[in-house]
Amino acid sequence: MFKLVIDPQKELGHIAPEIQGHFSEHLGRCIYGGVYVGENSEIPNTNGMRNDVVEALKQIKVPVLRWPGGCFADEYHWKDGIGEKSSRKKMINTNWGGVIEDNSFGTHEYMELCRQIGCKTYINGNVGSGTVQEMSEWVEYMTFNGVSPMAELRKENGHEEPWTVDYFGIGNENWGCGGNMVPEFYANLFRQYQSYVKQYDPNKKINKIACGPNAQDYEWTETVLNQCHKLSGSWNNAHGFMDGISLHYYTLPYDWAKKGAASVFNEKEWYMTLSKTLFMEELVTKHSAIIDRYDPDHNIGLIVDEWGTWYDVEEGTNPGFLYQQNTIRDALVAAINLNIFNKHCDRVKMANIAQLCNVLQSVILTEGEKMVKTPTYFVFDMYKYHQDATLIESFVDTKTIGLEEQYKVPNLHESVSKSKDGKYHITLANLSVEEDYEIKTDLLGNKISVVKGEILTGKMDDKNTFDDPDNVRIKPFEASVENEDKIVFTIPKNSVVHLEVEL
Ligand code: AHR
Repeated sequence: MFKLVIDPQKELGHIAPEIQGHFSEHLGRCIYGGVYVGENSEIPNTNGMRNDVVEALKQIKVPVLRWPGGCFADEYHWKDGIGEKSSRKKMINTNWGGVIEDNSFGTHEYMELCRQIGCKTYINGNVGSGTVQEMSEWVEYMTFNGVSPMAELRKENGHEEPWTVDYFGIGNENWGCGGNMVPEFYANLFRQYQSYVKQYDPNKKINKIACGPNAQDYEWTETVLNQCHKLSGSWNNAHGFMDGISLHYYTLPYDWAKKGAASVFNEKEWYMTLSKTLFMEELVTKHSAIIDRYDPDHNIGLIVDEWGTWYDVEEGTNPGFLYQQNTIRDALVAAINLNIFNKHCDRVKMANIAQLCNVLQSVILTEGEKMVKTPTYFVFDMYKYHQDATLIESFVDTKTIGLEEQYKVPNLHESVSKSKDGKYHITLANLSVEEDYEIKTDLLGNKISVVKGEILTGKMDDKNTFDDPDNVRIKPFEASVENEDKIVFTIPKNSVVHLEVEL
């Protein structure tokens, strides 16, 4: 019997909906064929966006969508993606398979996609190969409501009203594909470029996100924070601070040379994957500790805008397209990461899983007119109740499990929140491939009136395919109340459970 203790009186902080954000890059079939098929496609669409995909994304309440990259962002020139589609410039997507990018999905299409999903916008600007003027004009094009060259151009292209840009990234992975910079050099560029990301509407804040570290590169975080956390003389910057700094960390079962297969794996690889996922806890804790020294008032968010599993591509697919299947193992990876972000909601203000569709740890896979929801999708569906909720203090007893000393993990992983309607949401993952566990949830004398449960479970490598799209699904889950303030249930191996509790 393992004890999960929840203290409803201990409210620890606000869980930003953006913690459940997504990322869409011009990479493989994420945009083209994934979310966007064009107005003339036979696949049912609205203004070019696939209706099935948009519906699925609305269901999980996608709060924010990052675009256009990734590495693509630092080679993207936004003016190539506006105006009459047939005359848009074609370019080589050098990062991702060297394929031709025809720019038929550009700023207007991205904004339309976000409108249909009903989510916030997060545009990533080009520092690596773009100019300050180009970045500044993009912001003017999107957000200026008045007479100006860029606002006129937007109107000529059919959009009278400005859009809202909620978040703007000043470059992506500038330590790597975004220019191979050292942190001091990037810090100077951040100071310069962000000066020209103007907030034209005083009521619509554009949150500026600095490029943060690759995983455990603490020196990058330290340097960028030191140089940029407070910019003097930035009269149009509401707080005089950057609003966020990103962090990228991917879960690879092995390493970059041989990552491991997405859906054919053994128990040892299961635990390797989960243990490497749990490293996110250390990363978030240590980067947060650096940010705390510069920003004790918590104005700067840690923005984990790329996370998820990265496996070897599926056999027979373009290696540059990063297409991989998704199993119950990925569901556990998603559950662990989202629990970690919840528990660090005082600093983690946004996180974006990579990537939305057909790339890496996707929530959606498409093939022609077919679409499947992955196991990861269903974790987001069960976790959506945490969005905009209050983190509640919780603690679960665990034991250490796993096959190899190096890759031991706790058997259970949880987070708990209270949503605006007063209901409590417990999300608990069982990381074991062997054992079910009896759980006693103790609400410390608070009388329980209703408990509803749902579960995602299966064999460790269960997945949904185009031939069998409903193999993995959320199912109802039974839990019983004992002595009025305790919930008793058995969590099966390889599973994620969501309990909704009313007191
Ligand atoms: O998500 C795939 C790639 O991973 C992104 O383009 C880049 O930012 C990261 O290295």
